[in-house]
Amino acid sequence: MKRVFVTRPIAESALRRLAEVARVDLWDDDFAPPHDELLRRLAHADAVISMVSDRFDSATIEALGRLAIISNYAVGLDNVDLEAATRAGIAVGHTPNVLAETTADLAFALMMAAARRVVEGDRYVRAGRWRTWTPRLMLGRDLWGATLGIIGWGAIGRAVARRGTGFGMRIIYARHPSPRTPPQPEAEIKAEPMELRQLLAEADFISLNVPLTEQTRHLIGAHEFAAMKRDAILVNTARGPVIDQDALLVALRLERIAGAALDVFDGEPIDADHPLLELPNVVATPHIGSASHATRLKMAELAVDNVLDVFSGKLPRCCANPAVTMRSAGG
Ligand code: DGY
Repeated sequence: MKRVFVTRPIAESALRRLAEVARVDLWDDDFAPPHDELLRRLAHADAVISMVSDRFDSATIEALGRLAIISNYAVGLDNVDLEAATRAGIAVGHTPNVLAETTADLAFALMMAAARRVVEGDRYVRAGRWRTWTPRLMLGRDLWGATLGIIGWGAIGRAVARRGTGFGMRIIYARHPSPRTPPQPEAEIKAEPMELRQLLAEADFISLNVPLTEQTRHLIGAHEFAAMKRDAILVNTARGPVIDQDALLVALRLERIAGAALDVFDGEPIDADHPLLELPNVVATPHIGSASHATRLKMAELAVDNVLDVFSGKLPRCCANPAVTMRSAGG
């Protein structure tokens, strides 16, 4: 019987489906297995269902003599060295598309929270500071009529754009090349493509929707903040290192931009005493872009489907390295 290591508890229905064909070794803890434990468990596994916080660098991958598939429970694959996996004959699966709308919902929720100071307002009320109604209390920014700049025109970026259209925003976007999700024209969305520089200068709200790669690491740094409008609000539901976090802190402190709404950080979890979290114009959530009940179920089912595909000798249906020659598919 095949063996599968699952590095965190995921939907039980998906685990049951897996258990019908394989011996499932579940790491039943919210914290990741320590790296040496991960290696120990994988020594006898044919497949792993892994999370973004499990690291599969080339040294790890080269130590895995038997594994046929890394099935990442995420669309992002920055935790997996794809080239090393391909060299080793290990297929890499992931969970695109099923989480695009849910992640776009969070990007929009963050944008609105930052624009209308929702988190600040909540703290204000709870702290008993609300004394009276006054015309100048907690003024924010309108989404209606504002320009929304989307960086990355994949499934999530386009889902954010559709929401912006519904809110009466002007949509502009900068494509960013991604080998796995070639950008598609979106006929139903009225949106203008432009160079990144121009987008930074025109957008009132900027949503980051690119995968983390060597090309997108620190895509937004001091130069980019200097190019933004002073009242711009930056939203990141992609990956923390897409932003140079030190430069962000400076830009916010100097009021070079108006605010940031961040679901992801460079270094997760971010320390509770990190200086970014002292700023009133920062909204922070704990990497929950895809965290709805329905979407997490779909991600679990798709991660299992990817494993079952490999066990029946096929490439995973959502395969990030389709050029791989699989080492033991169906064997
Ligand atoms: C993803 O899918 O890449 C998310 O960041 C993790 O759920």
